[in-house]
Amino acid sequence: MLAGSRIEEVRNEVTELAQAVPGAQEFMQTMVKLLHHRMLKYNWVGFYLLEPGAKPPMLVLGAFEGAMTPHTRIPLNQGICGAAASSGQTVVVDDVSKDPRYLACSLETKSEIVVPVFVHGKVVGELDIDSHFAAAFTSEHQDLVQHCAKLVGKKMETAGQ
Ligand code: SME
Repeated sequence: MLAGSRIEEVRNEVTELAQAVPGAQEFMQTMVKLLHHRMLKYNWVGFYLLEPGAKPPMLVLGAFEGAMTPHTRIPLNQGICGAAASSGQTVVVDDVSKDPRYLACSLETKSEIVVPVFVHGKVVGELDIDSHFAAAFTSEHQDLVQHCAKLVGKKMETAGQ
């Protein structure tokens, strides 16, 4: 099977899931399982959510699939995760060993993508994916992960966080 068609299939599955699942938490839990299971190079898939009212702001590990990470709480001035949440921009790192911001989760991780989740225009969290393969997150993958993060934001807007 071509990689492109797998991405298209998974995009459709996630879109259908958004319609089938009523709550945001359940949506995130099912989504991380689906992405981890279906996308063979997505070796760790998880959400970090901004802790409500925390000062300074703090990202807290939410639903995830893959090995347990030591980074369950990440301030916004640390890690690739902090960079994505504080800038509101997708961050893609093709070789984590060359990025000084990187906080190691697994020794096997080679590349990472972090996409912010927005609710009414504000960052509320992010979808973080690690791969054991260098440069795994090509533009097609970025589109898929951004689509997933957008659906979660929309679900939170309609169903509540
Ligand atoms: N690598 C992330 C930390 C989270 S773990 O990958 C699950 C970072 O640099 O922020």
